[in-house]
Amino acid sequence: MKLSATLSEAFNKQVTAEFEASLVYRQLSYLLDDLGLVGMRDWMKLQADEELTHAHMFAEHMLNRDAVPQIGNIAAPQVTVNNAVDAFEASLAHERKISGMIRDLAALAQDERDFDSRPLLDFFLAEQIEEESTVGEILDRLRLIGTDGSGLLRIDAELGSRQADA
Ligand SMILES: [Fe+2]
Repeated sequence: MKLSATLSEAFNKQVTAEFEASLVYRQLSYLLDDLGLVGMRDWMKLQADEELTHAHMFAEHMLNRDAVPQIGNIAAPQVTVNNAVDAFEASLAHERKISGMIRDLAALAQDERDFDSRPLLDFFLAEQIEEESTVGEILDRLRLIGTDGSGLLRIDAELGSRQADA
């Protein structure tokens, strides 16, 4: 079934938001590199790649439904980071924004009785629960560690061992 004009517009926004998320994570990786936290830098790089995959998934869904994705304007990422907590707070804030957008998209699809987009949106609703939980847990642990350098290096090494999703 062809995607409606209203839903196409909403999906376009989501494609754009996922590309934007990728740039935010890429910027965070640069800032963490500058802080010497190379494990967290690598974690953010993988996250940036994952966001690109999300953008492609939304775009693919549009194409499969006779709609042409149109990437919108993307502002330069605005993130200021003085330490690891700042970086993951920026990440959590961004994930919460994305979760809200996906919920809105799901509500719109439901209003339009667009059941065809439900599997994709269900996947992303679950994905966002996981993203927020993962980042929230990292933040809790970083706050526990505080300014303890050896604790910070330990969690940095652990996050650096993250593998790309299959
Ligand atoms: Fe995403």
